[in-house]
Amino acid sequence: MATGKGASHNRHRPQPVRFLLLLVSAIAIGLLLVLLSFPFLFSANSKEKSEKYLYWGSRIDCPGKCCDQCAGLAHQESSLRCALEEALVLNRIFVMPSRMCLSTIHNTKGILHASNGTSTDERWEENSCAMDSLYDIQLISQTVPVILDNSDAWFQVLSEGKRLGKNGIMHVKGVSRAELKENRYYSNALLINRTASPLAWFAECKDRKNRSVRLPYSLLPTMASKRLRDAADKIKELLGDYDAIHVRRGDRLKTRTDKSGVERSQFPHLDRDTQPQFIQKRIAKWVPQGRTLFIASNERKPGFFTPLSSRYKLAYSSNYSYILDPLIENNYQLFMVERLIFQGARTFIKTFKEDEGDLFLTDDSKKTSNNWQIPVYTEEKEN
Ligand SMILES: *[C@@H]1O[C@H](CO)[C@@H](O)[C@H](O)[C@H]1NC(C)=O
Ligand SMILES: *[C@@H]1O[C@H](CO)[C@@H](O)[C@H](O)[C@H]1NC(C)=O
Ligand SMILES: *[C@@H]1O[C@H](CO)[C@@H](O)[C@H](O)[C@H]1NC(C)=O
Ligand SMILES: *[C@@H]1O[C@H](CO)[C@@H](O)[C@H](O)[C@H]1NC(C)=O
Repeated sequence: MATGKGASHNRHRPQPVRFLLLLVSAIAIGLLLVLLSFPFLFSANSKEKSEKYLYWGSRIDCPGKCCDQCAGLAHQESSLRCALEEALVLNRIFVMPSRMCLSTIHNTKGILHASNGTSTDERWEENSCAMDSLYDIQLISQTVPVILDNSDAWFQVLSEGKRLGKNGIMHVKGVSRAELKENRYYSNALLINRTASPLAWFAECKDRKNRSVRLPYSLLPTMASKRLRDAADKIKELLGDYDAIHVRRGDRLKTRTDKSGVERSQFPHLDRDTQPQFIQKRIAKWVPQGRTLFIASNERKPGFFTPLSSRYKLAYSSNYSYILDPLIENNYQLFMVERLIFQGARTFIKTFKEDEGDLFLTDDSKKTSNNWQIPVYTEEKEN
């Protein structure tokens, strides 16, 4: 075959030339295609540039009823997730608050030096932390594009919005998500300003059943800032093969006294079920003796969980203070690291049941109700 081919080459001299021409034109066409695709690339870019924006306010849940006192991290994350879902539905870039409010109830570590003479705004500034110290903004943007409300991009949007006039910034109040999407009156606006709602942000997502886009609860916890992820990775490596429990006491143990002077709680079994001897009994079937058990808790009494050390090798974030102290400025950051550590546990046990398949310490419902009951401390007969 090879010789036959060689022979035919020799007989038709011009063929290599034609072949060369063909090759050259193929390359030329290829180049042309690449060049032609450039405008597409650019238009894709400029389309990105001409994207539209969604603004819910400069603080999570505020404006609204939560401007003075903010909620815990998980609560604010529910609100943030709701806003991010709306941005996804509307195909808009979400303008994210650049700071997150730190609840004084939930923050016992550091930076709480709010003094008398300061205004509410200054106090808020002190009791807040930079959003990008908690989250990896670029990582979030891979799921929902976001810009921070202290970024150059945001200031450009604001001035562009002013320049555009009526179609620039649209203040909306009481307009449904569907209408914001379908009605061109709204969908054409560069920026939708949705700050007028008097409710906490998550209230917009109360009806989770009727929403086309649902971001998972795990979204924001996994998008911790790189510094926090790195610290968690180091600790996870040191822990090796471990189990973990999250023991919520502190805030949840609040009791009130009724008319006849009897103490009542919204979680009547919680105090009992989060005592070490009850924990030990409950988790025995899930966590074999001798395992390393990582405990995260808002219980502040030193040595509270020590009785568990007869069965388990206990570890807390405080065991790794040499890693965490240079990094952690507040309890929200600490909890973000602890949540990442939970994710690396072989078995993880929550305080309350949240989802199907969860392991949990107490059968009390996580939802707060107005049903204040007398706390139970005795062991109930199992049936
Ligand atoms: C704050 O005000 C209270 C009384 O209003 C006073 O007792 C306290 O010393 C003040 N604290 C500071 C840091 O000024
Ligand atoms: C958004 O609307 C509120 C009124 O609901 C207004 O006070 C605020 O200045 C607006 N913000 C922007 C960025 O347009
Ligand atoms: C559910 O969502 C659809 C589409 O967004 C909307 O047309 C409908 O009115 C909603 N139903 C309720 C009960 O909110
Ligand atoms: C963590 O620290 C406690 C003392 O606070 C100690 O008993 C325990 O062994 C430490 N755990 C690990 C895993 O180093």
